Amino acid sequence: MAVMDIVHYGDPILRKKCASVKDFSNLDSLIDDLYDTMYEAEGIGLAANQVGLDLNLFVIDISHTDEKEKPRIFINCEIIVSEGQSVFPEGCLSIPEITLDVTRPEFITCKYQGLDKKWQEEEFSDLLGRAIQHEMDHLNGILIIDRVSSLEKMKVNKELKEIKINAEKKVSKRSIEKRIIL
Ligand code: CO
Repeated sequence: MAVMDIVHYGDPILRKKCASVKDFSNLDSLIDDLYDTMYEAEGIGLAANQVGLDLNLFVIDISHTDEKEKPRIFINCEIIVSEGQSVFPEGCLSIPEITLDVTRPEFITCKYQGLDKKWQEEEFSDLLGRAIQHEMDHLNGILIIDRVSSLEKMKVNKELKEIKINAEKKVSKRSIEKRIIL
């Protein structure tokens, strides 16, 4: 079990469409680490590329709002039906301290794999449906700032720039460290 570093807006991995999961053999410890990282950061969802991994999977836990809802894992998730529309304020662990009103479909049907590799189809709405769409956006390289008008984005421009500069510094530091190790 380990808490990993969450990458921030400005890190190129957040703009990448993540690769499908094909090898399910070593996912258990990775998923434990994702949960640990998410709980430590007090988030309700976390996508693999938010910890720098190019993999199409995410975890969600909304049990604090609905105790019937267990923590969930979604692998290679696809939205096959979406209907309706709702607006709700969203934050993102990769864009700290920023909240934006995001418009999304209200009802979705998803197809996804569990840790047992089995495909399942399920309908979602409310907070869980919204969290799934937010995490799926991550895995497609999309962030909440891409889901609002340019006027709304402009209001948080200063904060965004700061987050981006710091994230880019961390990326270049990482590549230097890598060169020394090699
Ligand atoms: Co996010």
